[in-house]
Amino acid sequence: MAERVIVNEVGPRDGLQSQGKTLSVAQRLEMIQVLLDAGIRSVEVGSFVSPKAVPQMAGTDELFGQLPLADEVAYSALIPNVKGYELAKAAGARSVAVVLSATETMNQRNIRMSLEQTIAVCAELMQRARDDGLEARAYVAVAFECPFEGLTPARRVIALSERMFEAGADKVIIADTIGAANPRAVRELLMPLQSYSTAGRISCHFHDTRGMALANVLASLEAGVREFDSSIGGLGGCPFSPGATGNLATEDLVLMLNSMGFATGIDSLALVDAVKHVETLTDTPLGGHSFRWLQRQHQARQEVPHA
Ligand code: COA
Ligand code: ZN
Repeated sequence: MAERVIVNEVGPRDGLQSQGKTLSVAQRLEMIQVLLDAGIRSVEVGSFVSPKAVPQMAGTDELFGQLPLADEVAYSALIPNVKGYELAKAAGARSVAVVLSATETMNQRNIRMSLEQTIAVCAELMQRARDDGLEARAYVAVAFECPFEGLTPARRVIALSERMFEAGADKVIIADTIGAANPRAVRELLMPLQSYSTAGRISCHFHDTRGMALANVLASLEAGVREFDSSIGGLGGCPFSPGATGNLATEDLVLMLNSMGFATGIDSLALVDAVKHVETLTDTPLGGHSFRWLQRQHQARQEVPHA
């Protein structure tokens, strides 16, 4: 049987948080629905952050109350602090992801805490999530390079990941926030974490800023990683991290994984409709490297007369 790889769609959070156009809760729900229609079963719904800092994410609590297929889909929420945790839990989130940036400056800019404070808060929240029966996830952001401090030492990211596991994290998400990783750096960082990867406890989050996201996915697969974040059509970026442009496009990730014989449960051609729909909703031109080819295949499939 084909080996399973989880594709976690982060467009509704990482994608939308940096868009000029703020979608309504109804539009965000519509976006999630078209993603589910394409077979996606793991979605980061939004974040519980200050609506003054990120107005695009206001109303995530309301959105959680309306999510379809709640028993079949792994929905998660990003939380920056204790208040975010409490709001997420009250809204019914069953999986929460804290954000620990690997550098001092990035923590300050993103969530206004020092690295040390962030480690303490994240560790506390991992423990609380475990105690409350929620899935506990921890992003280690700017894991390869920080827009303010330059290259991030791999040993620091490894130590932070281990710290989060010790605190109770079910999963650590290695996040290349500004798309600066390369396959060799990915290998160096992930090899020491391989026992966690093969236990399904490491996920990777790449941005395609420099066109290397899929190469980095391949290096991660070779290091045993079987879960990845991606964003429909490549929508996204981080508002607090200059230069963080498009996420790895979901259709590129799914096409590569399916072609390699992994089971994602997602039909790459069905993602064409999702890309177009989200393009209309966000007024942003979208589409990964493979999008035009997928579109042609999609059209050809529709033209085949039904038997
Ligand atoms: N959700 C909603 N509101 C929150 C909140 C949360 N998780 N945490 C704090 N707030 C509110 C406070 O209630 C307060 O509201 P008020 O001004 O109406 O009294 C206001 O935000 C400031 O609170 P404070 O604790 O002083 O926070 P801060 O100003 O130091 O900002 C964050 C810290 C984390 C809330 C803010 O920087 C933030 O939301 N950043 C978003 C980071 C993000 O989304 N990054 C991208 C994803 S990695
Ligand atoms: Zn990101």
